[in-house]
Formats: sequence, C-alpha cells, structure tokens
Amino acid sequence: MKYIVTKDYDEMSCKTAELMADYIEQKPAANISLATGSTVVGIYERFVELVKKRGISTGSLKGFNMDEYISMSYDNPNSFYRFLNEHVYKKLDIPPSRIFAPDACANDLEKACDDYSAKIENAGGLNFILLGIGTDGHIAFNMPDKVLHSETHIEDLSDETRAANARFFDCAENVPRQAITIGMGTILRSKKILLVAGGKSKSAVIAKMFERKIDPLLPASFLWLHNNVTCVFDKASADGLKQ
Ligand code: GLP
Repeated sequence: MKYIVTKDYDEMSCKTAELMADYIEQKPAANISLATGSTVVGIYERFVELVKKRGISTGSLKGFNMDEYISMSYDNPNSFYRFLNEHVYKKLDIPPSRIFAPDACANDLEKACDDYSAKIENAGGLNFILLGIGTDGHIAFNMPDKVLHSETHIEDLSDETRAANARFFDCAENVPRQAITIGMGTILRSKKILLVAGGKSKSAVIAKMFERKIDPLLPASFLWLHNNVTCVFDKASADGLKQ
C-alpha cells in the first residue's frame, strides 16, 4: 500500500484528481466506482476540471455506484445517485445509460442486491474505485462487524454513521437506517483502489488502519490484502502516522 500525505485538503483534492485523471486517460473504458460524502467534493471539482482541461475521453466510461440508502429513489436530493450525477457524471456528459446503481426501492431488496453484483461482474468487474473512510473504518457502507460480506448486501447503519451523515438531511431522524452497498469482495477485486481521508476526525481511524492488522471491526484494514492501493491523506488525517 502506498500513501501520500499532502499539506492540506486542497492539495489532497488536486493529487487525488490527478491520479484519477491519469487512470482514466490510460483506461478510457474503465468501470469506475466513486465514493460520496464531504471529502470527495473538492476532489470531484478538480477531477472534472482536469478531465476537461486535458481533453480526456469519458465516452466509454461506466459508473457503478457503490451504495445507496434504502428506499431512496434516484432523483431524491439526498440519494447518492443524485450526488454523483451532480458532482461528476452530469458535468462530464456521462448519460444515465452508462451509470448503474443498486435499486434501493425494489420490492425484493435481496434480489436487487444479487442483480447488482451480477451486473458488475458481467461488466467485467470494477477497474477503479475511489473510497472514502468512515470514522469507524467503514468503506462504501461495509460497516464494522464480526463478519463482513463479500457481495452486494443490505447494511444496518450505526448511530455514529447516521449522525455523521445527518448534515446532508433536514434532521438526524431523517437519515435512513439501512443502505445497500457493494461488498468487500467487489471492492477487493477492483484492479486499482484509491482511499482518501481529510481532517482531524479521521486521524484515529487512519492510525488504527496503519497498525496493519486485518480486522472486520475495521473494514478498511482489508485493503492491506490488495496489491494496488494508494491512499491520499491530508496532514490532519495522517496525524497519527509515525512518519
Ligand atoms: C458515507 C459513504 C462512504 C464515505 C463516508 C465518508 O458513509 N457511504 O462511501 O466514505 O460516507 O464520508 P465523509 O467524506 O463525508 O467523511
């Protein structure tokens, strides 16, 4: 695992956007999966700028969203689908026909999970995934637990995660209690993984992850099993690292 520590959030965003643009330039027909949340907002702004500036083709990209709150329709302002569309896909003229997401409104959610796993695998799996990290070590919505799931599944969200994501909703009570997420297997089968973190609130979990123990109570620690992971941290989030 490689890691880069940048002086601040801005530099972290620029560096990550550059790594993303480099990847897509090399592999224009990549299947990509992008995180949501606050950390990635600046990254996507830079990424879109860079793709346009460098004239990188996005005509063959496919986007596979990594998670969605249960019962959230694609056009709901709080949906991850809408978030990624607004911040990335619409700006790069990537049409809905090339954006895929789990159907979080399906009557049969178990089937929706299986269908989504199959859709990703039938497309050849993910080539590139950009992950954020929760303060509890979750990636996508794979929450800390005694056992982790390999494939797309439903997760109960912890109070800590619901509280952390409450800022996107009118009130904390409105944060959904469950989400569909791609599983750890789908993540670890991605050819290239970028993990990003910014801010002091992430320093404890990053320090814990860098103890290099594989622990289902810290899902991000499984990234140590992958041979092509690059982390980009700002100084504040890397505060607990020894060097
Ligand atoms: C949510 C998303 C994750 C993301 C995490 C961190 O829980 N499901 O994919 O990594 O938020 O978000 P933030 O960058 O806002 O801390």
